[in-house]
Amino acid sequence: MNTMTIAIDGPAAAGKSTVAKKVAEKLSFIYVDTGAMYRALTWKALKQGISLEDEDGLAQLLSQSDLNLVQSDAGQRVILDQRDVSEEIRTAEVTNQVSIVAKHKNVREEMVQRQQELVKDKGVVMDGRDIGTHVLPDAEVKIFMIASVEERAERRHKENLEKGFPSDLKQLKEEIRKRDEIDSNREIAPLVKAEDAIEIDTTSMNIDEVVEGILNIVNEKWEKGEQG
Ligand code: CDP
Ligand code: CDP
Repeated sequence: MNTMTIAIDGPAAAGKSTVAKKVAEKLSFIYVDTGAMYRALTWKALKQGISLEDEDGLAQLLSQSDLNLVQSDAGQRVILDQRDVSEEIRTAEVTNQVSIVAKHKNVREEMVQRQQELVKDKGVVMDGRDIGTHVLPDAEVKIFMIASVEERAERRHKENLEKGFPSDLKQLKEEIRKRDEIDSNREIAPLVKAEDAIEIDTTSMNIDEVVEGILNIVNEKWEKGEQG
C-alpha cells in the first residue's frame, strides 16, 4: 500500500478539517487534528483556573495530561484524561482563547513532539497551522488552504445555525480575524505558508472540489515517484 504524509495548514474555518478528514478517508490514512490538541489544553487550563499567560503552568499541565485522538464510528474523538471532551473543546469560550495558549514555546515544543509521534510509518493527513513548516517539514504533500474572511465567517455561521447554536455573523468575522492575527504574528511557529506548499484558495470551491484537487496532487506525486 502507498503511504504518504500530507500537511494541511491555513487560517481558521478555511475548511482544513472537513477536507483533511475526507482525503484521509479516501486514502485510508489516519487523520490528525492538531488544533483539537491545543483546544483540549485550553479547556483544561480554563477548568483548573490556570492563567493562559502562565507558560510554565500550561507546559506542566500538558506534561501531566493523557491526551489522545481516537478514531471511532462517530468520527475523531478527543480523549483527555480518559474523558471524551470532543464537544467541550468547540465552545466559543475555548475557540476565542486557544490562540493565547498556542503562543507559548514550551507548550508548542511538547505538542509538536506528540504530533510527530502519531505519524510512525502510516499514511497520515495532519491539519493545523505549523504542520508543513515545523511538525512535518518533510511531508510529501503540503497544502496551504485559504479563503476570504467573509466566506470563512459565512461558513462558520451556517454551521452554527445548522447545529442550532446562536450565531452572529459580524461577531464571528471579528473573532476569526482576531485569531488569525494572533496565529500569524506569534513569535514561535506562526501561521505561514511553507515555501514548498501549494496554495488552494477555496473561496468559491465546494468541499468535494477541494478534496478532488488534493487527491489529484497526491496521485501526481505517486505517479512521479513510480516513474523515478
Ligand atoms: O478549526 P479552527 O480553524 O477553528 O481551529 P483549530 O484548527 O481547531 O485550531 C485552534 C487554534 O489552535 C488555532 O487558532 C491556533 O491558535 C492553534 N493551533 C496552532 O497554533 N497550531 C496548530 N498546529 C493547530 C492549531
Ligand atoms: O478546519 P477549519 O477551521 O479550517 O474549517 P472546517 O471546520 O473544516 O470548515 C468550516 C466550515 O466550512 C464547515 O462547516 C465546512 O463544512 C465548510 N466548508 C465549506 O462550506 N466549503 C469548503 N470548501 C470547505 C469547508
